[in-house]
Amino acid sequence: MKRVDVLVDCVGDAEAMLQATAIPDLAISILPNAVDLEIGELHKTIAGASGVITSLATRVDDAFLDAAGPSLEVVSNYAVGYDNICVEACLKRNVIVCNGPPPMTEPTADIAWLLLLGAARRARESMDLATSGEWQGYHPTLLLGHKLVGGTLLVVGAGRIGSAVMRRAAGWNMKVLYTARTEKSHLDGEFVSLADGLARADAVVVCVALTPETRHMFGAHEFASMQPHAVFVNVSRGPVVDEGSLAEAIERSEIFAAGLDVFENEPLIHPKLLKNQRVMLLPHVGSATIEDRTELTQVAVENVAAVLRGQQPPFAILE
Ligand code: GLV
Repeated sequence: MKRVDVLVDCVGDAEAMLQATAIPDLAISILPNAVDLEIGELHKTIAGASGVITSLATRVDDAFLDAAGPSLEVVSNYAVGYDNICVEACLKRNVIVCNGPPPMTEPTADIAWLLLLGAARRARESMDLATSGEWQGYHPTLLLGHKLVGGTLLVVGAGRIGSAVMRRAAGWNMKVLYTARTEKSHLDGEFVSLADGLARADAVVVCVALTPETRHMFGAHEFASMQPHAVFVNVSRGPVVDEGSLAEAIERSEIFAAGLDVFENEPLIHPKLLKNQRVMLLPHVGSATIEDRTELTQVAVENVAAVLRGQQPPFAILE
């Protein structure tokens, strides 16, 4: 008998989706509150599992793998990012790691644009004024922002999500620059170095995965090299940005504004960013639509089911 533990509050009916895989003798344990368990409790719970569906908030490290034991065949992360998982430790034990990129691409690109527009057009200050009871009525110089139409957009990390952000730029008639490990001829944009892109961009969107190389990729030097009217958006992972430097860059008017969906120490937000009206903040909701998260549940289930059937899962991490 095999057992799958669903350690995350999936959208949609994960149990029904797992049953529909018709894997013989499959036990299914649905634990939507697993992220709130004490680590010792969580580790006791997963003993003997063959597959787990994990939240981004769950660390899958040697201790987790020891606790699950040798029965564990697959860790299917309920996310596109997988920086919560020590992939090397999993692969060493022949545990396959999977993620779910397709449903996450478009909603995250949408949130990037929400933040871009919100930062450029001062959405946080505008909403606060509208709801404060202090608004005095229309005024031609009230809360002036910057125009994105016809400007230059830099996408840092032109993977799936970055490419989707780039595609949307056509609607704003923007020139698109991008960075990536290598040039991608199929993309409609100019391949640039980070330094060149930052110097030229009116808007920057960060879409890189969090790796040792991208940790604090954006600090004082990078913000100082941007244009003073530029807006900066991060929809990837918080630790890619040194939050203190970002807050100071906005305070010093080195850049105009920022939009952030992710933070260095979630759910904590740097106090200077919390306070700064030029920073539009969202609580890591990049992919939070009912439709996309339901599809993600299906992808997470298909990943697990394929491994338990001895097949190649649709989205295995091979690094
Ligand atoms: C969300 O951040 C994800 O990685 O899916």
